[in-house]
Amino acid sequence: MDVAKMKTFLILGGTKGIGLSISKQLANEGHKVFIISRDNYINIEKIPNVKIIKVDLLNLEKQNIDEIFNNHPIFDGICFAQRYRGSYKGKSNKSLEEYKVMVDSIANFIIQFNQHIKKSKNSKNINIDKISRLLIIGSTYSTRIGKDQDWSYHSVKSAQLSLVKYFSLNSGGFFNINMLSPGTVVKENSDSFWSDHPKNKHWIEYTSVGLINSKIVAKEAINIMKNSSIYFTGNNVKIDSGLSNLYHDQLK
Ligand SMILES: NC(=O)c1ccc[n+]([C@@H]2O[C@H](COP(=O)([O-])OP(=O)(O)OC[C@H]3O[C@@H](n4cnc5c(N)ncnc54)[C@H](OP(=O)(O)O)[C@@H]3O)[C@@H](O)[C@H]2O)c1
Repeated sequence: MDVAKMKTFLILGGTKGIGLSISKQLANEGHKVFIISRDNYINIEKIPNVKIIKVDLLNLEKQNIDEIFNNHPIFDGICFAQRYRGSYKGKSNKSLEEYKVMVDSIANFIIQFNQHIKKSKNSKNINIDKISRLLIIGSTYSTRIGKDQDWSYHSVKSAQLSLVKYFSLNSGGFFNINMLSPGTVVKENSDSFWSDHPKNKHWIEYTSVGLINSKIVAKEAINIMKNSSIYFTGNNVKIDSGLSNLYHDQLK
């Protein structure tokens, strides 16, 4: 890739699921990708241009975030794709831990990113085509209720949407921030699990092709992180084939 076109991305939760699909696609396009996760031994290390920064978002300290921003060039894109999946080491206070990993850590990253970027850039000289793009992988459950997830998941998803709204107006013009919200996503190598699932059959009624997969979500995420403008900010972009527009008593 032409070095001038090479960009640098930070993907939180880039070792699995949607974050992994985003990281792989970006790396395969020739971009530099830094991933934040708790483990640093997974296969993605074999993909060129990918580095894992080992951080536990549950026990995040200001110093960890400062180190990341001090040690790297300003990121062209940051994607928050982490997902809390129960306690890593046994004892847990689920709702609090979920909030820390999926809401508090995002707020802290953005606050410190903003401070870092202010120090490094001259605010009178902002190039509106070269802003950083921040993207939270949201969910249709930030605005609607799904019976397969409990209250705490709905709460964190709607809190993530509030962060998008808040930071869209507190960016100093240095970044845009948006949310990309899918319904249930089929991750890579899990098609067989979902093919006969009632959810997949339900989606086929409306989309003809069933549930969305993580590669398609990744493609849209990358498009927003590479091509959106400073004016495209504060949005919750649903990627659900229009399904959430259907009147509720007409759902089969
Ligand atoms: N899957 C779906 O059907 C679906 C649908 C709609 C929206 N979403 C949203 O999409 C996002 C990604 O979900 P997913 O299902 O793709 O996630 P996932 O497959 O469970 O992956 C979660 C990622 O987060 C990292 N992570 C978890 N806890 C961490 C911690 N304490 N510190 C650092 N990293 C941590 C994991 O890495 P380590 O385990 O290595 O630390 C992993 O890379 C979430 O915001 C989710 O709400 C998912």
